[in-house]
Amino acid sequence: MKTTEMLAEEMTLSRRKEELKKMAAAYEKKHAPQVELQDQRAVYHLMPPVGWLNDPNGLCWYKGRYHVFFQYSPFTSQGGMKMWGHYSSPDLLHYDYHGIAIVPDEAYDKDGVYSGSAICQGDKLYVFYTGNVKEEGDHDYILSGRGANVIRMESEDGIHFEKKTCILTNEDYPEECTCHVRDPKLYVGEDGTYRMVLGARLKEEKGAVLLYRSEDLLHFRLEGMYTTPEAFGYMWECPDIFEMEGHKILAVCPQGVERGNERYQNIYQSGYYVQGREKLTEWDMGFDFYAPQTFEAPDGRRILIGWAGVPDAGYDSDPMEEGWQHCLTVPRELTWRNSKIYQYPIREITKLRGGEWIPDDAGRVSLPGKCGEIIAEDIKTDRGVVYIGSGCVIKWDKGHVTLSFEDETGAGRSVRNAQVSRVESIRILVDVSIIEVYINRGEVVMTSRFFMEQPDLDVRFQGKADRLKFYQIGGRFCETFSSDWGGTD
Ligand code: FRU
Repeated sequence: MKTTEMLAEEMTLSRRKEELKKMAAAYEKKHAPQVELQDQRAVYHLMPPVGWLNDPNGLCWYKGRYHVFFQYSPFTSQGGMKMWGHYSSPDLLHYDYHGIAIVPDEAYDKDGVYSGSAICQGDKLYVFYTGNVKEEGDHDYILSGRGANVIRMESEDGIHFEKKTCILTNEDYPEECTCHVRDPKLYVGEDGTYRMVLGARLKEEKGAVLLYRSEDLLHFRLEGMYTTPEAFGYMWECPDIFEMEGHKILAVCPQGVERGNERYQNIYQSGYYVQGREKLTEWDMGFDFYAPQTFEAPDGRRILIGWAGVPDAGYDSDPMEEGWQHCLTVPRELTWRNSKIYQYPIREITKLRGGEWIPDDAGRVSLPGKCGEIIAEDIKTDRGVVYIGSGCVIKWDKGHVTLSFEDETGAGRSVRNAQVSRVESIRILVDVSIIEVYINRGEVVMTSRFFMEQPDLDVRFQGKADRLKFYQIGGRFCETFSSDWGGTD
């Protein structure tokens, strides 16, 4: 029998236009209640209602709400036809799910509504994404056989999108590019006109970012290219540009960088360049982080959300086969300190705290629901360990920090290293199957998925800190989150 994924793939474009969103909404309605009961579902991290999620897309604040779109393959938890799913929120704590915002239903995006971004102009919200096309035939899909089109859509309510327009095709990209050019990120340049960056793989096997300029968000002209003198990976995905206290930041996700034990430990990297500096700084030293996007909140804060996953990672993010896979990180506030970017959970997150739990003499607590927060500040010991559940261990020895899994809860994850000059504080967010570790108030972050079977979160802190707190994280987010699974159409 054919799967829903196969049926969706086989639909003609005109049928997709009429039926695909409805089909996905019906699929969600049928399967989401079951998925929602699964043991590894997080409580305050965004997940796909069913199926597969990857990159956050189109992050913005528009008409009084935050919008979080995401790469979504509803019909299979192993990843399939890519669409944009959509959550919105008044406060980044309580979310409404709006169903699918954009489906692949034109010749120029038929093989996937890939990643992209959002920008407001006047009263309207515009989204830009990559329309992925795979031609039939004998192709390597790098030098031939792939279309990577920049597509624009617009909306007056942030929920319904119309007027799909193809803005750029491969013919418009510079000669030195392969067919891999993608993930448009829009922003307003210093001169008040629009800019768009696109990630690219050059023919000389080098990652780069193309920079386009536009005055009307319709016509775009190439303005330049960012790359390194020596190749740093063959492809740069998901570029982003913004400023931190006068420093120009270019974020990219390089693929093809040689892996090491202390740096670049994952298969693909994600980090940022500061203008005038040569080295990429990694956003996250954990096992599961990729394709982040930033946006500006109405109060001026720069907020980053990442995908808590990595493509082709080689370890499992759906070991229990629960019918869904992957989640996003919590929104992180970025600040410029000590000549680098610190990332810290948005301050709103503390509102999710439930009760405070007092540890026993051995520094142990058991948090019900596997959802909690551990904060150790003014750490006095050069060495220490935090045990999370049966197998997750966070250790520090002077400035060297490791996040490791000592049993099968890591589902193939072993150890990741990070370095600071001295560990002064640690804040750990645990949400059922995801852990985010913030060292020194966000100087270094380590994100990982893990999969415990026991119902409570056993935590043990070994070390000395002037301030040590354990909080349970409550279900407020959850209530709104699961209240309505209906699609909008
Ligand atoms: C990053 C990425 C993007 C692409 C999207 C497709 O994870 O490969 O470059 O647009 O995922 O889902």
